[in-house]
Amino acid sequence: FSRPLVLGIESSCDESAAAVVAADGTIVAQAIASQDEAHRPFGGVVPEIAARAHVEVLGPMVEQVLAEAGMELADLDAIAATAGPGLIGGVMVGLVTGKALAMAGDRPLIAINHLEGHALSPRLADRELAFPYLLLLASGGHCQILEVRGVGEYRRLATTIDDALGEAFDKTAKILGLGYPGGPAVERLAAEGDPKAVPLPRPLKGSAEPHLSFAGLKSAVLRAFESGQYEKADIAASFQQAALDCVIDRTTRALADAGEVGALVVAGGVAANKSLRTALEALAEENGLGFVAPPMKLCTDNAAMIAWAGQERLAAGLVAEGGDPLDVAARPRWPL
Ligand code: KG4
Ligand code: ZN
Repeated sequence: FSRPLVLGIESSCDESAAAVVAADGTIVAQAIASQDEAHRPFGGVVPEIAARAHVEVLGPMVEQVLAEAGMELADLDAIAATAGPGLIGGVMVGLVTGKALAMAGDRPLIAINHLEGHALSPRLADRELAFPYLLLLASGGHCQILEVRGVGEYRRLATTIDDALGEAFDKTAKILGLGYPGGPAVERLAAEGDPKAVPLPRPLKGSAEPHLSFAGLKSAVLRAFESGQYEKADIAASFQQAALDCVIDRTTRALADAGEVGALVVAGGVAANKSLRTALEALAEENGLGFVAPPMKLCTDNAAMIAWAGQERLAAGLVAEGGDPLDVAARPRWPL
């Protein structure tokens, strides 16, 4: 495998993950444990449950990944661990695990911003993807549009002023009684409904402001459901249509604000949504841009993207000799 070899660790939300990634983007070994079952009864992620689960899972998982890679700690060139933003208890578990490994193996630690992991994951998926590109980052916790000019060079063009897009899917799923996580369930049910059946608002659509907003849409979904007038499938389909209309409108707006870019890229858990991918691909084509959406398992939270962000930072010369200081703090908030 091409060096450097980087171990990535991710624990900022409800996925515990570890992966070894080579310099050429080969994912040598990876593992991921989702905590969906543990959080399902609560309809959302419970931070304390998440942190405890990371504690149980991460240590053995790192051992397993190294064994699968046929490597020992000493074979690695660096350890990249998510240092934020995210649920602080979970972030601390992964970061401390990374620090302990770095110390035990005398390897450099690279503290990674989880959002940078998402922002660069498309380049792991498509090694031809060049800077600059416009990125829609849409997950359960984050929703923003970034101009990615290079490693460490991010210009935020838009951000949600209330809920994240994935959060809107999750809340809609909760209202409709579809369980957690909600995105895939809403998408499935939407396929059986009429996207024009329920009149729903498109918050900020056409607005000169560059931002996104989904709270009003969620409230309208709740009112539509409580009115008892509509089929669940029609509500799901109409919600998805309204949300995508907003996203496309806001992305169009961001494209106008951005400097020249070569591609439109989507990342984060909501990028799994096929209707969203189709709509963005059409927008990219209209604007003469390439379109990149990483495969599902690189879109949702994973450790390969964290290891890859470590690779990108190393290659760009952004990692200090000997790595980041071992007292680097876990950060609940950390804008790119
Ligand atoms: O990136 P991710 O795994 O975790 C966060 O960092 O939040 O994203 C998870 C989010 C959840 O809100 C989930 O409902 C949403 O992505 N999601 C989807 C779909 N698959 C996952 N939303 C819409 N359609 C989907 N198919
Ligand atoms: Zn994420």
